[in-house]
Amino acid sequence: ITRPTRRQVLAGGVALAGGAALGGLPGIARAAVSGNGRTVEAGAARVGLLGANWPETDVWAFDGRVPGHVLRVRRGEEVDVTLSNALAEDTTIHWHGLRLPNAMDGVPHVTQAPVAPGETFRYRFAAQDAGTFWYHPHSRSYEQVARGLFGALVVEEETPPAVDRDLLWVLADFRMTREGAIAEDFENRHDLTHAGRLGNTVTINGQVPDRVPVRAGERVRLRLVNAAVARGFTLGFGSLAPAVIALDGQPVPVHAAPDGRVVLTPGQRADLILDIPAEPGSVVEVVDGHYRGQDYRLVSLAAGPDAPLRTHVADVPALAPNPLLAEPDFERAETYVLEMGGGMMSGMSSAIVDGQDMGLREMVMRHGLAWAINGIAMTHDYLAQPLMTLGLGRSYVLDFRNDTAFEHPMHLHGHHVRVLRVNGEKVPHAPWRDTVNVPPRGRAEVAFVADNPGDWMLHCHVLAHQHGGMMGLVRVG
Ligand code: C2O
Ligand code: CU
Repeated sequence: ITRPTRRQVLAGGVALAGGAALGGLPGIARAAVSGNGRTVEAGAARVGLLGANWPETDVWAFDGRVPGHVLRVRRGEEVDVTLSNALAEDTTIHWHGLRLPNAMDGVPHVTQAPVAPGETFRYRFAAQDAGTFWYHPHSRSYEQVARGLFGALVVEEETPPAVDRDLLWVLADFRMTREGAIAEDFENRHDLTHAGRLGNTVTINGQVPDRVPVRAGERVRLRLVNAAVARGFTLGFGSLAPAVIALDGQPVPVHAAPDGRVVLTPGQRADLILDIPAEPGSVVEVVDGHYRGQDYRLVSLAAGPDAPLRTHVADVPALAPNPLLAEPDFERAETYVLEMGGGMMSGMSSAIVDGQDMGLREMVMRHGLAWAINGIAMTHDYLAQPLMTLGLGRSYVLDFRNDTAFEHPMHLHGHHVRVLRVNGEKVPHAPWRDTVNVPPRGRAEVAFVADNPGDWMLHCHVLAHQHGGMMGLVRVG
C-alpha cells in the first residue's frame, strides 16, 4: 500500500472539513467531565477522524472518543478515576506531568500490575498542581497511543486568569492508509531508527482542523497538548504575539513566545494567551514549521463579529505558582551525565542489551532496539534495574548529551525539572518542565530535587524510541 503524503491527506482533510458545515466545531474540545468519581473505559471504537466524507476509522479509545473526555478537577481536589479495560490486551493509565504517589503512576510492572482485559484499576490521588496535563496508557504505548488512547486532564486554578474563552487543543498525528484506516506498522524499523512514527494526518481534538471560530477582539487562553507519538510542532501565529503563561502545566513568568513561535515536542504542553484581532473577518493562520521545508497551515482562527475588548500581552496576569516545587540547591547538586546514542547516522555501534554487549544491527533486526542511554538499550525485562538511585530530598543536575541525529523529548515521571541550559545557552526563566527536548547532537541541562519517593520512568517521548531502548528507571529514596 502506498501511503498518501501528509500534505495530500491534510489537503484532502481540510477541503472536506470546510464542506462539512454540519460537523462539530473543530478545535473546540467537547464538554469536559469531572475527573472525580468516574470510570474511564479503554476499548475499541469507530470515530470520524477525517471528517464527514470519509468512512469512520477503527481506533482504540477512552470512552469511545479520541481524545478521551477532558477530565477536569480543581487544584487540591482528588482525581479518582477507575480504568476499565475493554481492550484485548493489558493496559494502564499514566498521568503525564502529575506529581503523584508512585503507586498511581500507571507504569506496568513497575508501579502496578498491568490491568488485564476485563479488569479495572482505581487511580486516586490529589491534584496538587493546577495546569494542563494529559493521560495515556503506559503499556505498549507506542501502539496504544498511536491508535487513539490519550486525553487531556485540566486542573483548574482557584482564580484562573480572566479570559473570554478557554480553548484546549490536543494535537495528535495519525498514520492513515488511503482507505482511511490507521496503518498498523507500529514496529516499522525505519521509524524505530529515525524520527519515530511520524504520521500523515495531524488532528486537533480528534478532527482534521480547518477553522476555529473565535470572536473579534476577545482574549483566548489556548491550552496546547502534544499527544503525538513522534511529531514535534513549532507553531507560529502570524501577526499575533502569543503570551506564554505556563509550560508543561507549571506557570512561567508571562512572556512573549520567542519569535512568536511555540515549540511542543511529544508530551509537552503550553498555555498561551492570544488576543484575537478586533477586526471582524480577520483570519489568523496557525502554521507548523517544526520540520525544515515542511511548513503547513495547521488551522486558522477566524474572528467573527461582536468585538468586545482589546487587551495587550503586557496586561496578561501571571498564574499563581503551584505549591511545593522545591528549588534545587545548586551548590550541592550532584550531576549525572546521560549520554544518548543510537539510531541511524550515529556513532553508536553496539550497546548493552539485557546485560550483554550487542551490535546495533542485531539490536535492530532481532530485538527491535536502536537507542541507548549511557550505553544501555533498556528492555522491559531489565527495567527494574535503575539507571540511577537518588537520595530523597537531594538536588540533582541531569546533563543530557544527545549524540544522535534526532531530537529526543526526555520525560521524567513524578517530578518537574528546571531547564537550565540547552546547547550550553541559558534558557530564559529556567522553566519547570516534565519533558525536556534534547536537540540533535545537542545538550540539555536540568536540575531538580528528588523529592518524590519511588521508581520513576525517564524516557524519550518519541514512543518508538522509548520502546527501542531509550528509557530507564530513576529510583528515589
Ligand atoms: Cu507521557 Cu512515560 O509518559
Ligand atoms: Cu527519542
